[in-house]
Amino acid sequence: MRKFWMTTALALTMTAGIATAAENVEVLHWWTSGGEAAALDVLKKDLESKGISWTDMPVAGGGGTEAMTVLRARVTAGNAPTAVQMLGFDILDWAKEGALGNLDDVASKEGWDKVIPQALQKFSKYDGHWIAAPVNVHSTNWLWINKAALDKAGGKEPTSWEELIALLDNFKSQGITPIAAGGQPWQDATLFDAVVLSLGDDFYKKAFIDLDSATLGSDKMKEAFDRMTKLRTYVDDNFSGRDWNLASAMVIEGKAGVQFMGDWAKGEFIKAKKVPGQDFVCMRFPGTQGAVTFNSDQFAMFKVAEDKVPAQLQMASAIENPTFQSAFNVVKGSAPARTDVPNTAFDDCGKKAIADLADADKNGRLFGSMAHGHANPAAVKNAIYDVVTRQFNGQLSSEDAVKELVSAVEAAK
Ligand code: GAL
Repeated sequence: MRKFWMTTALALTMTAGIATAAENVEVLHWWTSGGEAAALDVLKKDLESKGISWTDMPVAGGGGTEAMTVLRARVTAGNAPTAVQMLGFDILDWAKEGALGNLDDVASKEGWDKVIPQALQKFSKYDGHWIAAPVNVHSTNWLWINKAALDKAGGKEPTSWEELIALLDNFKSQGITPIAAGGQPWQDATLFDAVVLSLGDDFYKKAFIDLDSATLGSDKMKEAFDRMTKLRTYVDDNFSGRDWNLASAMVIEGKAGVQFMGDWAKGEFIKAKKVPGQDFVCMRFPGTQGAVTFNSDQFAMFKVAEDKVPAQLQMASAIENPTFQSAFNVVKGSAPARTDVPNTAFDDCGKKAIADLADADKNGRLFGSMAHGHANPAAVKNAIYDVVTRQFNGQLSSEDAVKELVSAVEAAK
């Protein structure tokens, strides 16, 4: 009997020993704000409950530009993380380099093909193989309005450009900063996503998805830049370089009237215990109602040493678990990546996000966000960033911005 227990104990130790070495994931991401960290904690705790330890590799910088630079250095040094938060076309670029692992076993066992929307699968699969696990669907064409300031302005949500300008003028008369913004290229571009979409679905699609030169160089694009110039008059003098979550805090604290931002901003309101309809109002950018510019955060799974693959696959499986999908996205401010997750745990803004995405997908009004890497590869995205941020800061007239947009995109294609 003693021999039996000795053998069993040895076997268990060996198994545990092998499993311990593999049961760790190193994750590179840029979720460093309060709301983002709270959401990430849901994932960390979920994995720890499954015996998988988490080595954190946060790289601050909204929109992920800095994170992608650090990733390139890590992979070049032959030391890729287990999993990396990544957006859209960046995933496909890494897949083309042969840098990503294969998740087909988990995906087919768990039926991902049936529950992950095609709009996301476009970026989760390469050459027919699953190479990334989508964790959410964010969208960028939102307004986050301080409810008290809106009530003081009469309480009507602006549904047109003219009504938006009137509301911003009213906020100015209230003595608060009308627009809470952070002057960083990715934030300027996030606003530009919505301004261009508000001038028409077809205009957005031709400009940013098709990169049609005539559209990029059109009078309508000049109008879009003119609107950016008008919006620029409503930001405060210290907006340059401000992180997006600090702009969210200005609206949360009533120091500013509205933030134009993706619904990761909602994660900050939730973290601050604010309630939709009571403390803030979420609505689609005027003129974009019914349409959505989306970006999905996916964990791209890099090729790693054999003994790290089991934990990597367990992480992918944990991410797609419906219960986790609800728990994570309620905190993150995004909608679930899966279409079969009930909306019962979500607040009114979360329920709206889920419904808007489903409607936009059904009605052909769901478009990849240019600002967040879902319309074109990074070279094109960064070329657009450069023109938009120079124009927004008055270094380019609208006429010159239109000309530069055409030439910069042409050169980056
Ligand atoms: C987006 C990302 C969000 C959030 C945001 C601000 O690209 O999808 O999850 O991190 O950047 O950094």
